[in-house]
Amino acid sequence: MAVITCIDDLKRLHKRRTPKMFYDYAESGSYTEQTFRENTSDFEKIRLRQKVAVDMEGRSSATKMIGRDVTMPVALAPVGLTGMQRADGEIKAARAAEKAGVPFTLSTMSICSIEDVAAHTTDPFWFQLYVMKDEEFVDATLERAKKAGCSALVLTLDLQILGQRHKDLKNGLTAPPKLTLPVLMDMATKWQWGMEMLQTKRRFFGNIVGHAKGVGDASSLSSWTAEQFDPKLDWSKIARIRDQWGGKLILKGILDEDDARLARDFGADAMIVSNHGGRQLDGALSAIRMLPRIREAVGPGMEIFMDSGIRSGQDVLKALALGADATFIGRAFIHGLGALGEEGVTKALDIIHKELDITMALCGEKDVHDLGRHNLLLPRGFMEEYI
Ligand SMILES: Cc1cc2nc3c(=O)[nH]c(=O)nc-3n(C[C@H](O)[C@H](O)[C@H](O)COP(=O)(O)O)c2cc1C
Repeated sequence: MAVITCIDDLKRLHKRRTPKMFYDYAESGSYTEQTFRENTSDFEKIRLRQKVAVDMEGRSSATKMIGRDVTMPVALAPVGLTGMQRADGEIKAARAAEKAGVPFTLSTMSICSIEDVAAHTTDPFWFQLYVMKDEEFVDATLERAKKAGCSALVLTLDLQILGQRHKDLKNGLTAPPKLTLPVLMDMATKWQWGMEMLQTKRRFFGNIVGHAKGVGDASSLSSWTAEQFDPKLDWSKIARIRDQWGGKLILKGILDEDDARLARDFGADAMIVSNHGGRQLDGALSAIRMLPRIREAVGPGMEIFMDSGIRSGQDVLKALALGADATFIGRAFIHGLGALGEEGVTKALDIIHKELDITMALCGEKDVHDLGRHNLLLPRGFMEEYI
């Protein structure tokens, strides 16, 4: 591919260069994938108001996320198995985020460990926690994140039980992959991926293997989730983790007005309106549709971030205009990583930043903080279609 101009170009390259098992793992939703599809198709329904004859010089997309300066209101979302999309993927993505001046969030289910990412970066990154039944493991993981200098904890609330993704079962997803004949035949066409993987030792769940006791088969994400994730997670357990952590806390996976009020009253530093990229409750509304309702329920005082469905700077602008203070991207950066490694993540961030900047200008805005409903045209009934 000669010239890369958009996230879709990176997605095509990602598909071509990455074993099917891992590309499918990223590019899928749960069950019928309705929510996964609507996360992006609902963004398309929202239109922008063009404004002319407005001085567009001196634009800025810089802002803060929980007190941290960022060049644009976009952070990298936690993505499990990032180091299977490309060798040492978490380190590469974290470095690209650092260069771009945006936060990187490391998943509990990463391939590179907390310590490994810390050793290869200088900016403090954020750590995402999945709450496990084994409290000792949870506490030890929090200590490791603190010791590594992680500056915020992203606590994911919407995946204590796994929504089924059909493709992962059909592909027999494991990390590292089991070398069956179909897998080997697929990999034969993805030689660059294989060469890089042979040169790294990071091929297992780096935060789990060697840290969690009595782990049966840590290579299978679905069996590990079923065995280890704590289905009893509730607000009292969240409070225990908050006290144990003692630092900045972001609650991820809020999609309902009542839960949003609880998260606000709980006193978290921010929440992420998210349906996990359509990977959990199939049939839930898209995150962009729920966002304005949640902003209204919570009021103006609390930082609200949003993810699920963002593929462009235009999408970022729409989320900000509907009440988000900032956004997270998952697949958009994973496509960059799978396509071109660290350079691809840099490319993805650069594409989104430029799209946001130009779109702001064409909407007659100079500052991301000034974006609002006045920049949008919504289909009649968009907000009230589902009650
Ligand atoms: C392949 C993949 C793996 C993910 N793994 C995690 C994870 O380990 N922890 C987590 O909190 N969210 C995880 N997510 C959800 C993302 O953090 C984020 O909510 C989602 O990707 C946003 O949607 P988008 O991909 O449409 O941007 C994952 C998403 C994808 C696509």
